Amino acid sequence: METKISEIADGIYRLSTFVPDIAPPAGFTFNQFLVLGDEPLMFHTGLRKMFPLNRDAVAKIIPPERLRWIAYGHFEADECGAMNEWLAAAPQAQAAHGQTGCMVSLNDFADRPPRVLADGETIDLGGGKRVRFIDTPHTPHGWDAGVLYEESTGTLLCGDLFTQLGNGPALTDGDVVGPAIAGEDLFKFSALNPAMGATIRSLARFAPRTLALMHGPSFSGDGAAALRALADDYDRRVSGAARGALQLAAAA
Ligand SMILES: [Fe+2]
Ligand SMILES: [Fe+2]
Repeated sequence: METKISEIADGIYRLSTFVPDIAPPAGFTFNQFLVLGDEPLMFHTGLRKMFPLNRDAVAKIIPPERLRWIAYGHFEADECGAMNEWLAAAPQAQAAHGQTGCMVSLNDFADRPPRVLADGETIDLGGGKRVRFIDTPHTPHGWDAGVLYEESTGTLLCGDLFTQLGNGPALTDGDVVGPAIAGEDLFKFSALNPAMGATIRSLARFAPRTLALMHGPSFSGDGAAALRALADDYDRRVSGAARGALQLAAAA
């Protein structure tokens, strides 16, 4: 396996590892994002077993021991499995995550205490970069779920939102909603919940210019329109599930 490095926005690098054995024949990508600054931040640690690949990829951009912040979307092996390997490799590094995630998992899991981020709280990375944490509970899955928004570049670090199959380009201005709908149809990875459409739609207020997908290409274009279209699709799924439950109850 190799990890490809691409700058998808000014000072934001995508480290992408393609795994052909997942959902063949299309395969599946795992992407980490390195945000440069006086205090560099990585969004997703990557799988623990992929740590050497990601460390070597980061080393092509900055000395790995310079990493200051480690953030991620929700507690799962691909999002934060290599957390403690990174904390060992970078002595100044600290994990940062939302209140729920720290309380439920990270206070215990991380080898050093994490920084607890309130909904909407920012971290100034220096060098003009500033990231804002936004709680998105259960969306697309995980009670602790959240996203990060880098304000200077208008980049939304989406985590598993818009998950798609395949090994596309690092950056596209094409459709990312249709492939995300197909990804959801196949994996059924989302925790459908009544607030889901509203949660995704609310992210459109940032009008992101770049969407950084954990599993798929990054998207350059009208991020708000893409988020609204994805929210509409989840509204459709949630109301369909609710209708199905009502029919079952009526038939009982
Ligand atoms: Fe996930
Ligand atoms: Fe993921």
